[in-house]
Amino acid sequence: MEKIIDESKQGESLVLEQKKENTRKLFIESYGCSMNFSDSEIVASILTKEGFNTTQKLEDADLVLVNTCSIRDKAEQTIRKRLEKYNAVKRDNNPKMKVGVLGCMAERLKTKFLEEEKIVDLVVGPDAYKDLPNLLAEVEEGRDAINVILSKEETYGDISPVRLNSNGVTAFVSITRGCDNMCTFCVVPFTRGRERSRDPQSIIEEINDLWNKGYKEITLLGQNVDSYLWYGGGLKKDFDKASELQKATAISFSNLLELCAKAQPKMRIRFSTSNPQDLTLDVIETMAKYNNICNHIHLPVQSGSNRILKAMNRLHTREEYMELIDNIRRIIPDCAISQDMIVGFPTETEADFNETISLMEYVKYNFGYMFTYSERPGTMAGRNMEDDIPEPVKKRRLQDIVDLQREHSEIRTKEWLNKTVEVLIEKESKKSDAQWSGRTQQNIVCVFPKGDFKVGDFVNVKVTDCTSATLIGEAISPS
Ligand code: SAH
Ligand code: F3S
Repeated sequence: MEKIIDESKQGESLVLEQKKENTRKLFIESYGCSMNFSDSEIVASILTKEGFNTTQKLEDADLVLVNTCSIRDKAEQTIRKRLEKYNAVKRDNNPKMKVGVLGCMAERLKTKFLEEEKIVDLVVGPDAYKDLPNLLAEVEEGRDAINVILSKEETYGDISPVRLNSNGVTAFVSITRGCDNMCTFCVVPFTRGRERSRDPQSIIEEINDLWNKGYKEITLLGQNVDSYLWYGGGLKKDFDKASELQKATAISFSNLLELCAKAQPKMRIRFSTSNPQDLTLDVIETMAKYNNICNHIHLPVQSGSNRILKAMNRLHTREEYMELIDNIRRIIPDCAISQDMIVGFPTETEADFNETISLMEYVKYNFGYMFTYSERPGTMAGRNMEDDIPEPVKKRRLQDIVDLQREHSEIRTKEWLNKTVEVLIEKESKKSDAQWSGRTQQNIVCVFPKGDFKVGDFVNVKVTDCTSATLIGEAISPS
C-alpha cells in the first residue's frame, strides 16, 4: 500500500494537539502505506496517555519512533538512513534520547536490530502497540525492549486514533488487519499476520465521530478490504468453524459499505485496496446504489500474463480480471480504476511483459503505481525462484509502462473536459494561493479559483482545462 501516500508525505513527522500536563516529547515518523500512517495515529493516541506530546524537532525528542515499511528493499534502505541520522543526533546532541522501530521492518528483523546492529532501544511489531507503555518502562530502566508477537484478535477497534497532520477533511479508518493471500512476492502476510476484521460497530462510531468533528471523507483501509468479514471476531480463516447463527448474521464488505454509506449520507466513503479475486458484484452494486460511495476502485493486477499471475499466486486469470473490469464499467460507467503493477518478476519474458502492456491498453487505467520486482527474504518467490531478470531489463520495462500509463491518464483526464464535477476542497493549490485544490469522486485532483468557498466545502466545478493528471475549472455552485 506504500503508493497510496503522496510521496511528499513519506517520512513526515506528526504533530498532535498538545496536552499541557504532558512533559515528554515524542518525534514520530511514518513510511510506507496508508495503514502505517493510520497506525501511527493509534500509537500517538496510546502515548499521549503516557505523558508524551509530539514534536517536529528531532533534536528535542525524548523518544523517536519510526513506523517502517518492508515492501521493497529500497523502502528498508530509506529507513536505515533515517536510523543513522537519529543515532547521529543521539550521539551529538541528545544522549538520553531513545529510538524505537515500529511496523513491518520491526516485525521482519525482530531482535536483529537489538543484537547485531545495536542501533535501537525498542522494537515493536504492528500488533503490539498496546504494549508500548510496558516496553517504554523497560527502556527507561536501561534495558532494550521488544514485542513482535502477532495477534489473532488485535484490531485497535477500541482506540480512538489521534488525527495527525490532518487537513481536517479526509481521514483513514482501518477495517481489517493482516492479509491471508500469500502473493508469492509479498512480505505483508509475514509482517502483518493473519487477516482479521474490525467490529463494524466501532467502525461506524469512528465515522460518526469524524463527521461530528467536521470531516467530510473517509477511506476504509485494509490490505484487502473486499475480504472483510465480521462474525463476532476472530480470524477470517476460522469462519468455517463459526456457529450457524454467526454465519447467518455475518457482515461482508458490501454490507459494511452500505452501513457506512447510510450512517453518514453526506460523508464521502472511499476504500482501499481491492483484490480482484475478492471484489464481488454486490460491492459494485452497493457503490452504484449510494451516491456518497466514491466511484473509484484501486484494483491492483500486478501482471497481465496468466503464467506470471499463477506464479505470483494471484488467484484469478487475465480473462477473469477483464470480465471484472467490464462489469465495473457496465454497472458504474464513470468509475475510475487504478492499478499496481510489478515488472521483472522471476522468469518474466518479453511475451509475458507484452501481455501486461495489452492488459493496460484494454483497461486504460486512470492512474497506477508501478514497481520493479524486489526480492523479499522469506517470501515464496524469494525462497523458490531466482531473481533472474537483469536490472536494466526491469528498468526498461518499468519505463515502458510508466510512459504508457501517462498516456492513458491523459486520455482519462481529458474525458472530463467541459463536464461538471463535484469537488471536495482539501487545501490551497500548491501552485497558487488564489486557488483551491480538491478531488473529484474519481480521485482526480481539481483546482479552481477560491471564490467564497472554504476547505471542507463540496463544490460543483465546470472543467475548462486540464493537464495529464489535474483538472482545472471554475466553481459553479455549492454541491
Ligand atoms: N494489498 C496491499 C498490497 C500491499 S503492497 C494493498 O493494500 O495495497 C503494495 C504494492 O506493492 C503491491 O500491490 C505490489 O504492486 C507492490 N509490491 C509488493 N511486494 C513487492 C515486491 N516484492 N517487489 C515489488 N513490488 C512489490
Ligand atoms: Fe501482499 Fe497480496 Fe496481501 S500483495 S498484502 S499478499 S493481497
